Amino acid sequence: MIYAEETLNVASVIDIVRARAPGIVPMLGLVLGSGLGELADEVEDAVRIAYADLPGLPIPSASGHAGDLVIGRLAGVDAAVFAGRGHYYEHGNPREMAVAVRSLAALGARVLVLTNAAGSLRPEVGPGKPMLITDHIAYNGLNPMIGTPGDKRFVNLVDAYDPALRDLARAAAVDSGVALAEGVYMWFSGPAFETPAEIRMARIIGADAVGMSTVPEVIMARAEGLRVAAISMITNLGAGMTGRGLSHEETKAEAAKGSADFKSLIRAFVARIGAAG
Ligand code: HPA
Repeated sequence: MIYAEETLNVASVIDIVRARAPGIVPMLGLVLGSGLGELADEVEDAVRIAYADLPGLPIPSASGHAGDLVIGRLAGVDAAVFAGRGHYYEHGNPREMAVAVRSLAALGARVLVLTNAAGSLRPEVGPGKPMLITDHIAYNGLNPMIGTPGDKRFVNLVDAYDPALRDLARAAAVDSGVALAEGVYMWFSGPAFETPAEIRMARIIGADAVGMSTVPEVIMARAEGLRVAAISMITNLGAGMTGRGLSHEETKAEAAKGSADFKSLIRAFVARIGAAG
């Protein structure tokens, strides 16, 4: 999709959202990753709109991804919850989530919280543990700003993961009694999992976790001036670290197992963000 077409879709999405959820200005957007969609059920006074009814939003093809925009109040905060995402690996397009991110900014939100399932490169941070993303590595040559017009494409990524939001996430971890690891997330295209050699490389160049999403959304959100935070749910150790193979079944099952803690952490985080204004 070309940028101008995206812009038209953003205008349609705004019209549809304003008509279906009149008067609600989400201050925050939340993208729910693989197996983490349950949080959308906790939105109060929820207006649920299928991505299929929102032009330009992805129709998720990965199981474990719903494909609904849920607008309402989460932990007392007006929020737009994107239950399910599109990934680069689905169609080879790093702008799968462009209309979602740009619409969120156009609706007046100031913060985007991203979640994902990820493989850990640190043996002590195992399945079920959440990890606050402090920075990322996109070593795959992909960038969602390629082909977009104007100087906005030269996105600054120093402090892309907002330091003040990171502090709030740490406070939320204390509030919810959930231990929160921290580290650098490295974006692989997927959908095949990494090889053990790639995982060894990722560790050497400074990654703490690997995954197939989030990074393009962060870059596009920063281009829109949104403040960004991201938290991974660790579902496995990286390829070659356990002697077992990897599977999407394991990703979904482990994300579901850790989801009670993850939900309380995210709720506490959203509440903190709302309180900080
Ligand atoms: N690699 C890439 N993406 C993932 C992984 C992984 O090990 N686990 C969950 N998502």
